[in-house]
Amino acid sequence: MSEKLSFEAPRGMRDFYPEDMVWREKVFGAMRESAKAWGFEPYDSCVVESYELLSRKAGEEVGEQIYHFFDKSERHIALRAEMTPTLARMVAQRQKELAFPLKWTTIAQCFRYERMTKGRKREHYQWNCDIIGEDSILAEVEVLGCAVDALKRMGLTTDDFKVHVSSRKFLGELLKNSGIAEDRHAQVFLALDKRGKMPDESIAEMLKDGGLAENEVAATFRIMDTKDFSGSPELTELFRKAEIAGFADALQFDIGVIRGLSYYTGVVFECFDTKGEFRAIFGGGRYDNLLTTIGGEPTSAVGLGFGDVVVTELLKSRLGESAVREMQGTAVGFMTDAEADAAVKLAYALRSRGEKVDLSLKAQKPKKFFSHAEKSGAAKAVFLGPDDVGAGKARLKDLATRQETEISL
Ligand code: HAM
Repeated sequence: MSEKLSFEAPRGMRDFYPEDMVWREKVFGAMRESAKAWGFEPYDSCVVESYELLSRKAGEEVGEQIYHFFDKSERHIALRAEMTPTLARMVAQRQKELAFPLKWTTIAQCFRYERMTKGRKREHYQWNCDIIGEDSILAEVEVLGCAVDALKRMGLTTDDFKVHVSSRKFLGELLKNSGIAEDRHAQVFLALDKRGKMPDESIAEMLKDGGLAENEVAATFRIMDTKDFSGSPELTELFRKAEIAGFADALQFDIGVIRGLSYYTGVVFECFDTKGEFRAIFGGGRYDNLLTTIGGEPTSAVGLGFGDVVVTELLKSRLGESAVREMQGTAVGFMTDAEADAAVKLAYALRSRGEKVDLSLKAQKPKKFFSHAEKSGAAKAVFLGPDDVGAGKARLKDLATRQETEISL
């Protein structure tokens, strides 16, 4: 007896059925429109990279989550977990020719072998907007303004989300003032990034392992209560500019934002839903040293990564299905084969006028045709019977109002 095979997508990988694509298109559409409106240029690359470029020495979580393998020529290959190393590679490769500052955008499929939780899959699409070669805080403002705009285009308001903003430079100065030397900050950042994800006692242990004395650990926890950022000129200027741009209500200072990636050097940010139900909607910051670590010239950079998973779940929960159910186009059907030619003619005439038409592929009973037309989301429907074709006229039905108008064939 032969066993029946049954396949599912590998754990954590996603299939997009047409009803899922509607959401994906909504999300991608908003991302692309905002990037365009903010003057970012699209770029792309392959999902496969050399493992060496993506591997991490700094003990970051992503380093352990990389999918990697050897190809038939024993090249060590990896699926990208994020776009930033690839972007750095592409920029470094043409650093002499490119006209800085660059403003580049992409929607990149990324893979991470993650423990799956709400909003975290093993594969996701990540919208990236990066500005390379600019020190001005206006670069941060532009990247943040663009991401906030995309969330608004998707239908969310600043009651639904807030971008938590901090600065590693500022936190570094506070640590330094408490006597914690700079060469230990990387370890401290890595430990502090785990706050909220593990108990404070474990974080204290991590800090001690990183070489901090008992009193320095206590000082570090005290610093994490900081509410006032007036000691940071860059954060002060960022919030002031955001006020002028009109999106300061989307931002809040949060010293607890550290980020799990070690390449950040200045402003860091992470966006969360206000009810605190989901993981981060997007995250990013300034990373001024990444290019030099892969052999490029020193270049300042700031950017963000904005995944499709959390935001889609948030949109579904806050806006519901109505957010994507948009009736559009015309369904054209016919009762018997004798009306098929007239239906084809009508459908192609409507399409040549720019209308979206779903033409039935075979003769149908009217009840079946109209029920399918409604389910498929058509706004209007025309059904041709023998009498219609004989008279050279037909009725165009508005499926929402049920009103009919006569059209000539
Ligand atoms: P990240 O915080 O690791 O940053 O990821 C950015 C965003 O990607 C997250 O906020 C989330 O929306 C999404 N994301 C990440 N991992 C997953 C996952 N397993 N499942 C679903 N969504 C996920 C970076 O990757 C930086 N490279 C961003 C950046 C660009 N910084 C500067 N430029």
